[in-house]
Amino acid sequence: MDAKEFREFGSAALDFMADYLENIRDNEVLPSVEPGYLLDLLPTEMPDKPESWKEVLGDINRVIKPGLTHWQSPNMHAYYPSSTSYPSIVGEMLAGGFGIIGFSWICSPACTELEMVVMDWLAKFLKLPAHFLHASEGPGGGIIQGSASESALVAVLAAREQAVVSYRESHPEVSESEVRGRLVAYSSDQSNSCIERAGVLAAVPMRLLPAGEDFVLRGETLKQAIEEDVAAGKIPLICIATLGTTGTCAYDDIETLSAVCEEFKVWLHVDAAYAGGAFALDECSDLRKGLDRVDSLNFNLHKFMLVNFDCTAMWLRDANKVVDSFNVDRIYLKHKREGQSQIPDFRHWQIPLGRRFRALKVWITFRTFGAEGLRNHVRKHIKLGKHFEQLVIKDSRFELVAPRALGLVCFRPKGDNEITTQLLQRLMDRKKIYMVRAEHAGRQFLRFAVCGIDPKASDIDFAWEEIESQLTDLQKEQSLIIRKAG
Ligand SMILES: Cc1ncc(COP(=O)(O)O)c(C=O)c1O
Repeated sequence: MDAKEFREFGSAALDFMADYLENIRDNEVLPSVEPGYLLDLLPTEMPDKPESWKEVLGDINRVIKPGLTHWQSPNMHAYYPSSTSYPSIVGEMLAGGFGIIGFSWICSPACTELEMVVMDWLAKFLKLPAHFLHASEGPGGGIIQGSASESALVAVLAAREQAVVSYRESHPEVSESEVRGRLVAYSSDQSNSCIERAGVLAAVPMRLLPAGEDFVLRGETLKQAIEEDVAAGKIPLICIATLGTTGTCAYDDIETLSAVCEEFKVWLHVDAAYAGGAFALDECSDLRKGLDRVDSLNFNLHKFMLVNFDCTAMWLRDANKVVDSFNVDRIYLKHKREGQSQIPDFRHWQIPLGRRFRALKVWITFRTFGAEGLRNHVRKHIKLGKHFEQLVIKDSRFELVAPRALGLVCFRPKGDNEITTQLLQRLMDRKKIYMVRAEHAGRQFLRFAVCGIDPKASDIDFAWEEIESQLTDLQKEQSLIIRKAG
């Protein structure tokens, strides 16, 4: 393909994508294909001879699109939003065009320095403590990781190495392997699956402590667990708290957790993958309480900042703790500007060596929406979440399971779990909206998250009509069965 064809293919693909996103509501949110559908449609070998891009684009429409779950549809209400935006898509395209890999400053100075700029912009926008800024005097700063999962793993790995070094300094008689075997980490039973997984990958047991009836992990629960473990000879290294849990968007009590972490010299990481976007709003300032005392935190721009996946902001209070833990050098990675200024080589802050130019799409998105546009976006999700919550409250057949938080409403039809399961099954079979279940203390419930590229109140009304009418039909069918049986 030459540049001329690239222009033709690129503009046709752009038109295709603009049509797709503009008419996203025309698609059922869930696909109607069976497992293996694509394997049956595509050849088992790559083509021997080049094919035309027109054929390829035609096939994207013919065989790929039918197998998509439409995450950008406002009828998507499962998980949390994975919002993209037009500027972010362009940013992704330009980054692909430049094709750089920015693991060290010299590998593309613009990549590293733009990342420092946008991470500081974002930290200020979210009103984070100044020590997380690159521009601060201290060793703090932010980096763009691929995901919240990666950020949690980086935090656990760095905390692990720090804990091993510091324990051996005070107990030189204990061997390194024994110290490693006695390490223990903490989180809540409401934390995302990736936190437990970070423990598995870092070979550190992750104790999932019981959050209370209100789904919140507090300092007293952590303190009790740490005291038990220390008495048993274990070495606590990190607690991962969540602001905005996946199940119900509950907020762990960072103030009391940080006090305990300081007392026992335990690293405190905060996973604010979804709720972090609300730090920017004055009306949500309570969410930021205690953040001045945490060691690291992450927030997914791909959830709430209109930047497409993958893009997770991670801030470190003392980046040296990560750099010292991960630093492995080779002569071919060295460059003469290394360590000469405050500018990092981000390869030391992350798991892979290579790194994408993600800062470009962030910069483009922030500039074209502006801080005001981003705040309006978060506020819109909150407003639509409240709108849905009101619809649930007005219908006495349903109950809320947890207080609405931001754009997430957790609710269920009153009665046993079976009715929740059956209602969800019906909704999934009809494919007009997509939600998932969660469970707490044996009670199943439905999670309704405001999602999609440009959700509107009419989309929320559409979803509610679907949910309540399906419950009506289900109830009718059930009373018919009971009558027949009687
Ligand atoms: C609270 C929380 N943490 C972590 C994750 C995992 O995010 P990622 O896919 O970026 O690893 C999610 C996903 O929704 C989440 O809700």
